[in-house]
Amino acid sequence: GEGALWGARFASGPSPELQELSRSTHFDWRLALYDIAGSHAHAKALAAAGYLEADEEQAMHEGLDVLARGIQDGSLQARPGDEDVHGALEAALIEVVGAELGGRLRAGRSRNDQIATLVRMYLLDHSRVIAKDVLALIDALVAQADAHEGVILPGRTHLQHAQPVLLAHHLQAHAWPLVRDLERLRDWRSRAAVSPYGGGALAGSTLGLDPQLVARELGLDRPAENSLDGTAARDVVAEFAFITAQIGIDLSRFAEEIILWNTREFGFVTLDDGYSTGSSIMPQKKNPDIAELARGKAGRLVGNLTGLLTTLKGLPLAYNRDLQEDKEPVFDSVDTLEVVLPAFTGMVATLRFDAARMAELAPQGFSLATDVAEWLVKHRVPFREAHEISGALVRACEDSGIGLEDASDELLASVSAHLTPEVREVLTIEGSVGSRTGAGGTAPERVAEQRAELVARAQAA
Ligand code: ARG
Repeated sequence: GEGALWGARFASGPSPELQELSRSTHFDWRLALYDIAGSHAHAKALAAAGYLEADEEQAMHEGLDVLARGIQDGSLQARPGDEDVHGALEAALIEVVGAELGGRLRAGRSRNDQIATLVRMYLLDHSRVIAKDVLALIDALVAQADAHEGVILPGRTHLQHAQPVLLAHHLQAHAWPLVRDLERLRDWRSRAAVSPYGGGALAGSTLGLDPQLVARELGLDRPAENSLDGTAARDVVAEFAFITAQIGIDLSRFAEEIILWNTREFGFVTLDDGYSTGSSIMPQKKNPDIAELARGKAGRLVGNLTGLLTTLKGLPLAYNRDLQEDKEPVFDSVDTLEVVLPAFTGMVATLRFDAARMAELAPQGFSLATDVAEWLVKHRVPFREAHEISGALVRACEDSGIGLEDASDELLASVSAHLTPEVREVLTIEGSVGSRTGAGGTAPERVAEQRAELVARAQAA
């Protein structure tokens, strides 16, 4: 069609059906400003190699600036006949600077090395937006941990009461995976900040253009080592999609707990009105939709990763048009996280915890039985026997319909002579939590140290 990037060797123009299938401007237009940045850098490389005179280079940069303004204010848009963002911008450049100068810019580059570079630039920028959003969520968790010193809840395994833990310890257990996600994003950036620009369609260029110059201009660390790999590999996109999926999974695990905690049966938390939703029929309802949407969208993020990996599987070198299918999934993952994270953070920051309710449930389900066994070990009873004694005490209390803390001196003695009344020292949730001073344990001093380390790691990432 008019202004197309190819056509001379074709007797006829593209069929309407082909155009319909081929067009990518409705999703790759979001790369338009990156395309312009690539063109500025490429113009410099062309000038440095003697393919543009100084005045031509100047006019090229000015023309590109006109396009950038049009992209920013929305006056420049792709037209229906444009195949992709690259073609649309070349046609627009020619309208601004003329066919003679505008036609020089494409020398020594291909849409294949362009797109491979632009998608990296886009993802690098959004990796910083997502990292900022994840850090805000970590901050909200840390603030809640700080504000609930001494608050205890029933820790669970298999969703059954296991041992009491500090609420701060539990909240920090949700923050650590997010810290690792920040670190993943940081590590990913070192692999992503590579420029395939200059690789051409697949084999490199004859024009002696400086790929270092282009990489530097684009804020990337270095050019790709191999032009085939640079134009055809998308592991960097897949790895980014994995990190976004993992963040989704980490949110969904916490979301599931918030949904449970918010039920009448648990009654651990109240959601702020601004971060919960109502029902169109049941006037009393206050629903945890943010947590549910986060949980649901984790599936979407995993789907984007799976779809992308499936597209990449078995693709021969070098560029194949299949690779155009890398963008929509990863763009969707970016968009999804960038709306989920701020809402989730607001919900977490405004959660109200019912400390009395959590403390009431914390000793239930014989959650202090391990403390009894470890108290016996401290009194020289082998753990195997201590486990038996504590288990027998649980059974005796269960038979009598009482908790461990309610066992009489007689009941204790009837279970084992080792169970003197002093065992009651460890039969409080505060005593239990306070005595777990081992590394990474739930004792208040360990949890406070851990929080400082968490904050330092998050800041450093
Ligand atoms: N639109 C393509 C993509 O997103 C880039 C263009 C390469 N097209 C081509 N026919 N070689 O991957």
